[in-house]
Amino acid sequence: MTEYRWSAPSNIAFVKYWGKKEQQIPMNGSISGTLSHCRSKTSLKILSTEQDQFHLEFYFAGEKNESFAKKIENKFHQYFLNEIPLLKNCSVRIESENSFPHSCGIASSASFYASLALCLVEFEAKYSSDSQEFLKRASYLARLGSGSACRSLFGPFVLWGGESMEYAEPIVKVHQDFKNLKDFICLISSEEKSVSSTLGHSLMDGHPYRDVRIEQANMHLDQLKSVLEAGDWSKFSNILEQEANQLHALMMCSTPGFFLLKEKSFELIQKVRQWREQNSIRVAYTIDAGPNIHLICHSDDADKLRVCLEENSSLLENCRFIEDEISGVIRNEHEH
Ligand code: PMV
Repeated sequence: MTEYRWSAPSNIAFVKYWGKKEQQIPMNGSISGTLSHCRSKTSLKILSTEQDQFHLEFYFAGEKNESFAKKIENKFHQYFLNEIPLLKNCSVRIESENSFPHSCGIASSASFYASLALCLVEFEAKYSSDSQEFLKRASYLARLGSGSACRSLFGPFVLWGGESMEYAEPIVKVHQDFKNLKDFICLISSEEKSVSSTLGHSLMDGHPYRDVRIEQANMHLDQLKSVLEAGDWSKFSNILEQEANQLHALMMCSTPGFFLLKEKSFELIQKVRQWREQNSIRVAYTIDAGPNIHLICHSDDADKLRVCLEENSSLLENCRFIEDEISGVIRNEHEH
């Protein structure tokens, strides 16, 4: 039996991917920051290579999980078996676990599919695992699993839609001030979302603001690349917050319209604006498809922000926030 074992972090989008075409090709490019502590560790065991047909079993956090297994199996039939025909006669066991708590509002699909893709590329054995081609291929396969997963292979800042819409690439020119950012992930609610990302993406087809959105995303993409290089904090925070607001405005203006933010999400945003003014904290909020708020903060101001959050912990579910950083490193867990 051969086993491949990799871990990859989650990521948070600064310019958002919302809306897609066939084969998980995004409607517009996006930029993200890769987390460090919130990650998935995944192992792929090849139990046999002589099956009549592909067979998969999936364990999450040590327990067999049939409903995840179905979804993952679909991805294999839809994409991975065609990409890696050798798998068609394999029986495999995939085991995965997250470093972050279950139902804490952080989607694990990005870190899971990024770590699985790394196992698949090692299995393919076409590229050496320390080459750029290896990561490009992993990013390509991760995208087929879950779009935003393609960005989790690199860090700290990542562009999807630069040289290709099929995979992501690291952003190399980054100002010193942006090299140690913190992400305070503020948990507002871990309830299951009323509308899945898959449905949300599809509602961008025929959306009244589709064309304007593409234009805005492209503009933010160019601006953010320059801002990351120049180190301009106030422009950085404006872009992040406009992107978060726009994403949720697009959801509200979809047909049917929907709301993922909760009252406490808005309350926290108002507080963040106050803290920024009154305590001179370099902090910007961003939000993915859910009610939880990511506070991206300059590392020199992290202590001040932590105090503010602790004083206002009643806004948070179980008074909980997770402290992470924007860095992002994948790991071959066989070597650890
Ligand atoms: O990768 P998906 O299909 O889960 O979509 C992610 C969508 C957002 O998180 C809202 C934005 C993004 O770019 O990650």
